[in-house]
Amino acid sequence: MPAAIILIGSPRKGGNTELLADAFLEGVREAGGDGEKIFVDDLNIHPIGPVGDVLSERVDVHADDDFLPTLERVLAADILVFGAPVYWQGLPAQLKAFVDRWSCYYVNPLLVDGMKGKIFAALVAHGAPDPHHHKWVTDPIQVWAAHFEAPWAGHVSVVAQKQGLVASKPEALAAARELGKKCVEMAQA
Ligand SMILES: Cc1cc2nc3c(=O)[nH]c(=O)nc-3n(C[C@H](O)[C@H](O)[C@H](O)COP(=O)(O)O)c2cc1C
Repeated sequence: MPAAIILIGSPRKGGNTELLADAFLEGVREAGGDGEKIFVDDLNIHPIGPVGDVLSERVDVHADDDFLPTLERVLAADILVFGAPVYWQGLPAQLKAFVDRWSCYYVNPLLVDGMKGKIFAALVAHGAPDPHHHKWVTDPIQVWAAHFEAPWAGHVSVVAQKQGLVASKPEALAAARELGKKCVEMAQA
């Protein structure tokens, strides 16, 4: 059964990102998969410490925090979803800190082999009415997917500033459900 993991970068419970994530998981389950969401802000994940220039000799000086157990949950999933509201033209720091920590394991087979082939997708809320505003987060995430040779399933973005506004946007919730189904179908192909 394909498994999805959604890393939610927003610390706001009941926020737009969580609503998109719940709809995505409905789609995953309708298509025969399963999944979970993780609020990265609930975890103790330190921003990356100093790393050496020899990639194979890097040490993760914060290896005793929640990063590695969370990475193991990510690697066990078939589908990795970034629940990333736009924060100041980028991903929330909570999520970016998690991603930066990958660099401690840059050439480690744990990361390289574990990410290869995983299906990447994104769920994005932002306040600005510009329909291209999601690119502040979807562009880098697509680059990361290509780096890991991970297929890109796509994204759902929605213009929503206030907490929970997405609940009144059935088209966005439907798109998130459809993306969940698509990810499961890609994982089964
Ligand atoms: C720290 C912070 C920075 C933000 N920066 C932007 C931004 O650069 N562009 C934008 O359109 N919205 C911005 N927003 C608005 C959020 O993207 C928007 O409220 C979104 O719905 C939040 O998702 P959530 O409900 O899951 O927390 C920002 C919000 C916060 C709290």
